[in-house]
Amino acid sequence: KCHEEMSSPLYFGWFLFFTVQDEVRETSTNFLKSLEGLESFQKHISDFSGKEEKADLDQYFKAKGTLHCTTKFTNYGKAEGAKEYTAKQIVQELYGSVSELSLSALFITPRTIGARVALSEEQLKLWPDDAEKEAESVVPGASALPLGSRGHVTLGCVEGVEAVQTGYDLLQILVLQKNGEQGEAEEIDAGTLTYYGEGRWYLSLKEPISAAASFSSAYK
Ligand code: A2P
Repeated sequence: KCHEEMSSPLYFGWFLFFTVQDEVRETSTNFLKSLEGLESFQKHISDFSGKEEKADLDQYFKAKGTLHCTTKFTNYGKAEGAKEYTAKQIVQELYGSVSELSLSALFITPRTIGARVALSEEQLKLWPDDAEKEAESVVPGASALPLGSRGHVTLGCVEGVEAVQTGYDLLQILVLQKNGEQGEAEEIDAGTLTYYGEGRWYLSLKEPISAAASFSSAYK
């Protein structure tokens, strides 16, 4: 029984080193602060508060624990493809290995806040073939996006919202971008900030954040 549980975790992913987690959380807080200071953001504040008043974004999103980028949600072996993924040679081989995750963008929606991860060729070897396809029923168009598009770190969620929503929110923004949606873009210190309507804000970082992480699994 014990051995069985050990080989079927809740999920596999890259777990950010603790010192890096602090840095990323600080960057995320600063992002929210700078958003709140923008006239363009205040113009659309009702997306978040439902009212025309200041929303405290830092209070709005609740942290979800250890920062990580999920590769495969295996749900203790119950998720589709869980056993196949766990048994993959590359998964076994790279288990415990350390690599640098490149965080290329930050985004918020009225539900979630996250960082987009630009996966390297090497990291993509650990990416499930169906990660984007699986989201198609929730985010139409997701399955046509390049492999790895769903790669992200959940930084926080509104109370009552599950972490899985962060990946859906990212994919939805990427589908809009792919469809040529321009949104309302402006340059800020950290990079190009774009508003895509319905409370969706996407900051493409001028300088991606390099985050050391180890590929491992969590049992919760
Ligand atoms: P994410 O990768 O967006 O952070 P939970 O806390 O809900 O039990 O989830 C544990 C982790 O697994 C979280 O990181 C979460 O989302 C991810 N996750 C949960 N459900 C799914 C799912 N159906 N598909 C992909 N990832 C999931």
